[in-house]
Amino acid sequence: MSQLHNKTQAWSALFSEPMSELVQRYTASVFFDKRLWRADIQGSLAHAEMLQAQGLISPVDWADIQRGMAQITEEIESGRFEWKLELEDVHLNIEARLTALVGDAGKRLHTGRSRNDQVATDVRLWLRGEVDDIVTLLGALQKALVTTAGQYADTILPGFTHLQVAQPVSFGHHLLAYVEMFARDAERFVDLRKRVNRLPLGSAALAGTSYPLDRERVARTLDFEAVSQNSLDAVSDRDFAIEFTAAASLVMVHVSRLSEELILWMSQSFGFIDLADRFCTGSSIMPQKKNPDVPELARGKTGRVVGHLMGLVTLMKGQPLAYNKDNQEDKEPLFDTVDTVKDTLRIFTELAGGITVKAEAMERAALKGYATATDLADYLVKKGLPFRDAHEVVAHAVKSAIAKGVDLGELSLAELQAFHPGIDNDVYAVLSLRGSLNARNLLGGTAPQQVRAQVARHLARLG
Ligand code: ARG
Repeated sequence: MSQLHNKTQAWSALFSEPMSELVQRYTASVFFDKRLWRADIQGSLAHAEMLQAQGLISPVDWADIQRGMAQITEEIESGRFEWKLELEDVHLNIEARLTALVGDAGKRLHTGRSRNDQVATDVRLWLRGEVDDIVTLLGALQKALVTTAGQYADTILPGFTHLQVAQPVSFGHHLLAYVEMFARDAERFVDLRKRVNRLPLGSAALAGTSYPLDRERVARTLDFEAVSQNSLDAVSDRDFAIEFTAAASLVMVHVSRLSEELILWMSQSFGFIDLADRFCTGSSIMPQKKNPDVPELARGKTGRVVGHLMGLVTLMKGQPLAYNKDNQEDKEPLFDTVDTVKDTLRIFTELAGGITVKAEAMERAALKGYATATDLADYLVKKGLPFRDAHEVVAHAVKSAIAKGVDLGELSLAELQAFHPGIDNDVYAVLSLRGSLNARNLLGGTAPQQVRAQVARHLARLG
């Protein structure tokens, strides 16, 4: 053990005793950060290529490093690579294997580099790819929702405020509200990608390095769009991880709101939709049950992602410059956030096509809450009444309709005229749900014509 310790740990000459097993397990990260192996090798190859171009290692060393890394890639892909806890993390595991395979060239790889700028580079490389995946998945989800929305532009849903029936809306319009949210989410990821995509390598441990590295060259090789400008900041900055998790939290919050609605709509009290069986489970005791597990879990997993955001913010809060081991704790929350968001987006893209709409039940519910009262007020305004007076007149009409147990449209013309003599036979068109819907025919409004225009706009935008 102590021989292995002396051989493999970079700082070993200074240490007179090995770590206890507990400390080793406590400080090691290999069992989660091995996930970064591809980025680690990619970063190392770019660094080595530049060392060679700068004359800091020989062409033979560079060839050896390439050969070694090719074999390591093969070993990891085929599951034959032996990850060692005592080698602490992904970086030392790969470097040790490289040295075992190619000798001195492996030992020269770390010239002008520290694990501090190495890990920052790896995480950024890896996360950049995940950001791209998430943007693609957000596009697919939007498309699925837009497609469903297009089918239900004319379907009437009670629109709620305070979860009380407010005004009728198109079900398509309602779904498109979520498309707007996911479109903003995609925008956020595209924007934060710029700040992820900067190269820390060359910052070394914290102060830069005395070797004449060509940082721009490494950035070009790795497709980074900028090179970090301050070594202390570069090795210790985790803003990009926090930003990413914040954007991911908003995605989950949006999914969670949609989930809550799906759950409510599917409940017996609402009965607005049914979800395909493949997204539900039964109960082990109540044979009649079909539970909306997928939206419920998505709502639950939102807590987990928001928790990761809080974890990362708190992780950074008290850290002095520059790198501290605390930063190793950035990985698991990031990994879990990525996995949770990607799976959630995939499953909701499928789910968007698995909603059965019970249009009659929706419309019946919209009839219940005097949802066209505002339309009556607007009607009176068009007859010349100031809006506040019209509001008062309609309040009286609603009160009397409630007492009679009927809807506004079921009051006779004489009854309505008792509230205001200006009311005419044409009022009944206004009091219908469809009349109310069609009337809101302005940009952003719920009229089916507007919904169809929005569907077309989204489809063109999403390609
Ligand atoms: N495993 C470490 C991390 O994830 C790599 C950097 C270690 N640097 C150090 N100075 N101990 O942060």
